Amino acid sequence: MHILVTGGAGYIGSHTLIELYKAGHTAVVVDNLSNSNPESLRRVAQIIGVDRIPFHQTDIRDREGLEAVFTKHHFDACIHFAGLKAVGESVAKPWEYYENNISGTLVLVDVMRKHDCKNIIFSSSATVYGDPAEIPITEQCPKGQCTNPYGWTKSMLEQVLTDIQKADPSWNVVLLRYFNPVGAHPSGRIGENPNGTPNNLMPYITQVAVGKRPQLGIFGNDYPTPDGTGVRDYIHVVDLANGHVSALKAIECVCGLAIYNLGTGHGYSVLDMVNAFQRVNGVTIPYTIQSRRPGDIATCYSNPAKAEQELGWKAKFGIDDMVRDSWNWQRLNPDGYNEN
Ligand code: NAD
Ligand code: UFG
Repeated sequence: MHILVTGGAGYIGSHTLIELYKAGHTAVVVDNLSNSNPESLRRVAQIIGVDRIPFHQTDIRDREGLEAVFTKHHFDACIHFAGLKAVGESVAKPWEYYENNISGTLVLVDVMRKHDCKNIIFSSSATVYGDPAEIPITEQCPKGQCTNPYGWTKSMLEQVLTDIQKADPSWNVVLLRYFNPVGAHPSGRIGENPNGTPNNLMPYITQVAVGKRPQLGIFGNDYPTPDGTGVRDYIHVVDLANGHVSALKAIECVCGLAIYNLGTGHGYSVLDMVNAFQRVNGVTIPYTIQSRRPGDIATCYSNPAKAEQELGWKAKFGIDDMVRDSWNWQRLNPDGYNEN
C-alpha cells in the first residue's frame, strides 16, 4: 500500500517507516518538524536502502499544503502520528494543544475524504483509560477522566473519528492505544530525541547514563505496587512500529471501526527499569526518591490479546532489549540528531 505518514520524522513515525518498507509498503511523510529533525528521515532512508523518503514539510493544519500533497500522490491509507505530546506543556498551553491536535486532525480528515482516502490509523494512548477501571486493561475497559489537555485531545479525537466512521461506514478507522514506547532501532541510528528536559522515564535514564544529568528523580515510592514505584507497560518502539503494519491488515479486511491496545501485557516498575538498565548496560544510574508527580497513576498495563487474535500481532522484544537499545542510541548519539 502507499501510505501517508503524518509526523513521520518523529520518534514512532521514523521507526514505523522502516517496518512499512520492510513489509513491502511505500510512504510519503508530512511533518512540520516542530518536534523533529529531518536527519531522522535521512537515516531511515539509509537503513531501508533507498535514496530518500518522500517528504513534505507541511503542517497538517495547512489545508492548501495538504491538498497539494494529496494532488501529487494517491494514498491507500494514512497513519496519523502528527501531534503535540508533552503532558506538562499541555497543562500550560491547552489552547495550543487542542488547536494543533484537534484542528490538525479535522483538516487532515476533511482533505482525506475529498480525495477518497478513507482509511486512517490513529495514534492514541493508554491515557484515554484515565485511572483504569481494570488491570490488565482490555479494550472493553471504559474510557476515563484524563488528567491533562494532551490526554483529552486523544480521547476527543477517538470520539471524532468514531463518529465520522459511524456517519460514513466507507471509512476504516483503527485506533491504536499505545502503552509506554521505549527503545530504539537496533542499529542505533534512530531513536527518541527529546527537546529540553525529558518528561518520560527512559530518556531521563539514558541522559543520566550519558552524563547529561546528575541523577534520576523517582516520582514516589509509596504507590500500592510491589516496590512502591509506578508500574507501566513498556513496549519496544520496533514492536510498536510493527503494530501499525499489522493494523493495515485490519484496513485491508474492511474493519470499519477497530480499537487495539499495543502493549506487552507486562507491568514493570520504575525500579525494575532502573535495575534492568544497570544490569544489561553495566552503567550506574544514581537516583533519589521524590514526591509523586501530579496526575500519575499507580499501575497501567495492557491485556494485548485482541491485537494478537485479530491482527496476529504480538510484542517480541523484552525489557532487556528495550534498555539495551535505548542506551545504544543515546551512547552513539549523545546529542540526538543535533550533532551529526
Ligand atoms: P514525536 O513528537 O516524536 O512525533 C510527532 C511528530 O509530529 C513530530 O515529528 C512533529 O514535528 C510532528 N507534528 C506535530 N504537530 C504537527 C502538525 N501540526 N503538522 C505536522 N506535523 C506535526 O512523538 P512520538 O512519540 O513519535 O508520537 C507520535 C504520536 O504517538 C503522537 O500523536 C503521540 O501523541 C502519540 N503517542 C505517543 C506516546 C509516547 O509516549 N511517545 C504514547 C502514546 C501516544
Ligand atoms: N517517572 C519517574 N521519573 C521521571 C519520569 C518518570 O519516576 O523522571 C515515572 C513516572 O512517575 C511513572 C513512570 O516513570 O511512574 C513512567 O512515566 P513516563 O512519564 O515515562 O510515562 P507515563 O506513563 O506517565 O506517560 C506516558 C506518556 C503519555 C502516555 C502514557 C500512556 O508520556 O503521553 O505514557 O501511553 F499517554
